[in-house]
Amino acid sequence: MLRNLQEHDSNYSDSLFVRIIACELCCSTCNPRRKKNINEGKPFEDMEFLEKLGEGGFGTVFRCCDVETKQIVAVKQISILDTYNAVPGSIIREVSFLRELNHPNIVRLLKVRYKKGTRLVHLVLEYLDCDLHDYIIDAERFNSSINNPMTKKSFLYQILSAVEYCHSRKIIHRDLKPSNLLIDHSKEIIKLADFGLARELGDPDVLYSPKVATRFYRAPELLFECGQYSTPIDIWSVGCIFGEMVLGLPILRAIDCKDELETIFRMFGTPTEETWPGVTTLCANLQTYPKFRPMDLSSIFPPFDPTGLNLLMRMLCLDPNKRISAEAALRHAYFDDLDPVYPILLS
Ligand SMILES: Nc1ncnc2c1ncn2[C@@H]1O[C@H](COP(=O)(O)OP(=O)(O)O)[C@@H](O)[C@H]1O
Ligand SMILES: [Mg+2]
Repeated sequence: MLRNLQEHDSNYSDSLFVRIIACELCCSTCNPRRKKNINEGKPFEDMEFLEKLGEGGFGTVFRCCDVETKQIVAVKQISILDTYNAVPGSIIREVSFLRELNHPNIVRLLKVRYKKGTRLVHLVLEYLDCDLHDYIIDAERFNSSINNPMTKKSFLYQILSAVEYCHSRKIIHRDLKPSNLLIDHSKEIIKLADFGLARELGDPDVLYSPKVATRFYRAPELLFECGQYSTPIDIWSVGCIFGEMVLGLPILRAIDCKDELETIFRMFGTPTEETWPGVTTLCANLQTYPKFRPMDLSSIFPPFDPTGLNLLMRMLCLDPNKRISAEAALRHAYFDDLDPVYPILLS
């Protein structure tokens, strides 16, 4: 029998990672006796705030200058006020995963600060020039090379390298999308950021929350509200990101979850028990959707490398059991002519 362990359940514990931050932040915010030691020194006076970089679901990000080292950093400010007077799971996840993960394509967490009396936590991160969303839509402003086929190939390779690294450690990001991918423009390096929804794969019988990932990048098994999912959800999102780099706009835009599924089916065909064994159990109302035939993707995507189109289709395979893994994707023929500098840079 499956246990329905919801993310907001008070018994919910995000594996052993909770301990890493619990000893610092939870104690400093919830136990006044510990505050004095935690807040020794001047946590923020050494940081000059330069500009606001972005705002997302969990916090506001600023570009700052470390007054002492003159280093430019990004500071993600998160409010820790919540109903239970506890540190939100998003911070616990983000800090613990970023501390654990060490990869050239994952943003580096430099330090964590808690500002006394304000209930604000600051995550000090390495600073990058922009995110992939802006790099695609504001290509002129960023002097972006995204229209260069080799840049797309290199970015996809780097994203897959980071995803493979996470998956090999049984970590799913669960919110891969262009605004969570940061770019170092001069070096053409792309890095995964925003691990606020990431989680560790644990007990295979546990049902995870299906309310993760941003709609346009959400895999069909998540849209079915299926609590049993795994690493293929990240590959689906990477496929959507790849398609967006090619087309210049999100490839699966929809107004709500039902419309998103219909948009997916319109492009890839409505699944059947033959094409996706078990799909009628996962989606009890599948018969309410129109029966679309798969479209010819080469008519949607401007002519680009046919091996690229093949990889795209294997990442956007409806059945998660048949979807290509990050490890296999890195060995795909599409990358055969990748500039050797990238694998060397990342090794
Ligand atoms: N290290 C960084 N360097 C430069 N910009 C960043 C950095 N981290 C985040 N940003 C910008 O801030 C936005 C929000 O950050 P993110 O970590 O995704 O927060 P949220 O959890 O609120 O979505 C990103 O989409 C990006 O534009
Ligand atoms: Mg984000």
